[in-house]
Amino acid sequence: MSIRHFLSLMDCTPAELNSLIRRGVELKDLRDRGVLYEPLRNRVLGMIFEKASTRTRLSFEAGMIQFGGQAIFLSPRDTQLGRGEPIADCARVMSRMVDGVMIRTFAHSTLTEFAAHSRVPVINGLSDDLHPCQLLADMQTYLEQRGTIAGKTVAWIGDGNNMCNTYIEAAEQFDFRLRIACPEGFEPKAAFLERAAGRVEIVRDPREAVAGAHLVSTDVWTSMGQEEDGERRLALFRPYQVDRALLDAADPGVLFLHCLPAHRGEEISEDLLDDPRARAWDQAENRLHAQKALLEFLIEHASHA
Ligand code: CP
Ligand code: NVA
Repeated sequence: MSIRHFLSLMDCTPAELNSLIRRGVELKDLRDRGVLYEPLRNRVLGMIFEKASTRTRLSFEAGMIQFGGQAIFLSPRDTQLGRGEPIADCARVMSRMVDGVMIRTFAHSTLTEFAAHSRVPVINGLSDDLHPCQLLADMQTYLEQRGTIAGKTVAWIGDGNNMCNTYIEAAEQFDFRLRIACPEGFEPKAAFLERAAGRVEIVRDPREAVAGAHLVSTDVWTSMGQEEDGERRLALFRPYQVDRALLDAADPGVLFLHCLPAHRGEEISEDLLDDPRARAWDQAENRLHAQKALLEFLIEHASHA
């Protein structure tokens, strides 16, 4: 058996993804009941962060500790990676010392290159293209709050960014329809759209996107690495703010999710996260549980490979 990586939702089958999110629900219950469960005793996760993070770092680190293992945080500022050591060499060395590696990076090719030279599972903790761990938490949250998402309609409002690309992959893997409302020039990457043709529709009007939607989600207008374009984006994205009135135009049982960090007054209204339809705090918590399910799946699998 070869090593499994999690660089994209497409690295798992739909059945595996569904069992991961169901396992996330179980692990959450174990933790809520105070049951000690340490399947990764003496295991180590290496974590490379080339971009800032609160939730991703905390959830992986806490998850490894709760599982009886440890996580080690590395940043390019204080490793040889920042001084030009090739990513392939870093992969060869790290993967002889740790049991899994999580990477948050810019170019997605950094992840694929690292994975190609790694002896242990590699997890995408966000790249410019994808954020698959976030979608595990989002799908777990929808399941807990509303049941299965299969056959439902999801609206993505705002930038066609890494989160949007991942929602497109999720539409394929979790079997839902996706309507994306974005300004012209801010569409998701064509490769993602082409593969999901028939499931995904691009519109310009957010109200059209949310009509009948069971889940609405958005994200920052300026992602990490795009800061220089921030001013221009503020003006262009203004009509794409999600507020209570926009949710009123969706299905009456609509759920609103935001991966966070949120910019109140920009992509969401000041009060949106206080609306009972918004579940961003449960969603953030589920990063912990869903990723523990992922760590158990990948690292346990590798130990039997
Ligand atoms: N949603 C998310 O990935 O948050 P962080 O950037 O804080 O990790
Ligand atoms: N699209 C955002 C997500 C942050 C979790 C970014 O890449 O900055």
